[in-house]
Amino acid sequence: MTQNTPRTTDDATWWRSAVVYQVYVRSFADANGDGIGDLRGITQRLPYLRDLGVDALWLTPFYTSPQIDGGYDVADYRDVDPIFGNLDDFDTMIGQAHSLGLRVIVDLVPNHTSSAHPWFTAALAAGPGSAERERYLFRDGRGADGELPPNDWESIFGGPAWTRVADGQWYLHLFDPAQPDLNWRHPEVRAEFEEILRFWLDRGVDGFRIDVAHGMIKEEGLPDVGFGMLIDGRRQSSMLGSGRLPYFDQDEVHDIYRAWRPILDSYPGGRMAVAEAWAETPQRLARYIGPDELQQAFSFDFLDATWEAGSFRKVIDTALAEATIVGAPTTWVLSNHDKQRHVTRYGDGEVGLRRARAAALLMLALPGCTYLYQGEELGLPEVLDLPDELRQDPSFLRTGESRDGCRVPLPWEGTEPPYGFGPAGCDKSWLPAPASWAQLSVAAQTGVAGSTLELYRSALRIRRAHPGLAGSDDPVRWLDAAPGVLAFSRRATPDAPELVCVVNISAAPAPVGGYGPVLLASAPPTEVDGEIALPVDAAAWFERE
Ligand code: GLC
Ligand code: CA
Repeated sequence: MTQNTPRTTDDATWWRSAVVYQVYVRSFADANGDGIGDLRGITQRLPYLRDLGVDALWLTPFYTSPQIDGGYDVADYRDVDPIFGNLDDFDTMIGQAHSLGLRVIVDLVPNHTSSAHPWFTAALAAGPGSAERERYLFRDGRGADGELPPNDWESIFGGPAWTRVADGQWYLHLFDPAQPDLNWRHPEVRAEFEEILRFWLDRGVDGFRIDVAHGMIKEEGLPDVGFGMLIDGRRQSSMLGSGRLPYFDQDEVHDIYRAWRPILDSYPGGRMAVAEAWAETPQRLARYIGPDELQQAFSFDFLDATWEAGSFRKVIDTALAEATIVGAPTTWVLSNHDKQRHVTRYGDGEVGLRRARAAALLMLALPGCTYLYQGEELGLPEVLDLPDELRQDPSFLRTGESRDGCRVPLPWEGTEPPYGFGPAGCDKSWLPAPASWAQLSVAAQTGVAGSTLELYRSALRIRRAHPGLAGSDDPVRWLDAAPGVLAFSRRATPDAPELVCVVNISAAPAPVGGYGPVLLASAPPTEVDGEIALPVDAAAWFERE
């Protein structure tokens, strides 16, 4: 097997063109056989990630937590939950990752704690008007007896964003009731998170993924949204992008990041942070990035683009224009642990897989940083038919929508579920993998020409080596192409070879004769009327002198 040479680890701007692999910890690899992925499992599988050719890992939360929302409900920000291991396991994992040339990003969840966090239990015990309640957003209710929530805000997981406690007050939770929102206007909250950042930076982490980075500051006075709880059956959160919400993307949230950036910069080696932020416009999203705030914000518009050339072209152009203005590269992503896997979004089955493979070559040819979600390199689809009683996503109970289908444990090897997820002979996995995944396992695809895993490995190898792809800033030059066909080139310097990427989203094979030799294709080019053509729903990279 070809091994990629790790990039240098002392480059302070490594993140500008990195490929980061998202590890959903409970579903990646299980070392102790309890059916749940853990830190030792990650350590054992690090060589796989090195050989895949990624630059860094992002680990979803592994901190002490009641696991009501897959660990996004943190009870102790400075320790590892026993189901995932302990701090020694973390130190071993990060030490080995670094020795393999892989960087490690951890998830930071600052918008809310778990209701099991000592601050929240103290707040409940101390009662209305206490200093302990000031760290959260407790309010009296409306109505004669305070029996109505303090305002009309809706939880992202459905239902009111307020829960009433025994003494009659209500507390705010933009997510599950087990995730009370912190009061980020409180100096102790700010000080605590600055210490948490330092705690993990001291342990060697290379960066943070900031959960709900747009949510920490709420508009003063907590005003009603004012459109009622439901508009045309839509939820408030679906308004993001078409209207302002008093609990998202408030201007003062940027003060927090301006305080964090000097902390990141005070450590060597390019420590960074990526925002999971949702904002009304790409312009407002761009405000999270820059030399005095965070380094990156996911481009979710790219993830949301439909399988149409115009849709991709528009979000790519907008994202690149914003990136130029703020001087930071774009952060591309197609899937994560909250979204239906893109194989399924693009049509599922064979068609969905063809398109997903083409989309990967599109994304990996764009300048900037790319995040991959574990399993996309295997072409995994969403698991749509999980039995309801096994689903664990808290939003499933409140809205019927569940994110469990993209969180099914990875298939590593063998012919029976759970496909080597745990140690030899172990048949446990917290969610069942489908029978069809035997052909999709890492072992089944390794070394198989044309497999999705080998496509990703080749793409990542070429991306590292080719001068047209390696840079983060060299522009995308769109080429003339038939309707429904995206074609662009990138060239680092005038005398370096040019990389041409063509994606055929039209209904007919696309002639690609003039682009030079094929470096990589998601489906083999064919010949039409004596001319080489790219099939429908395929992408290819060419090298042009
Ligand atoms: C983010 C996470 C998601 C979680 C939510 C609440 O959106 O990605 O998984 O449920 O925040 O923390
Ligand atoms: Ca385990």
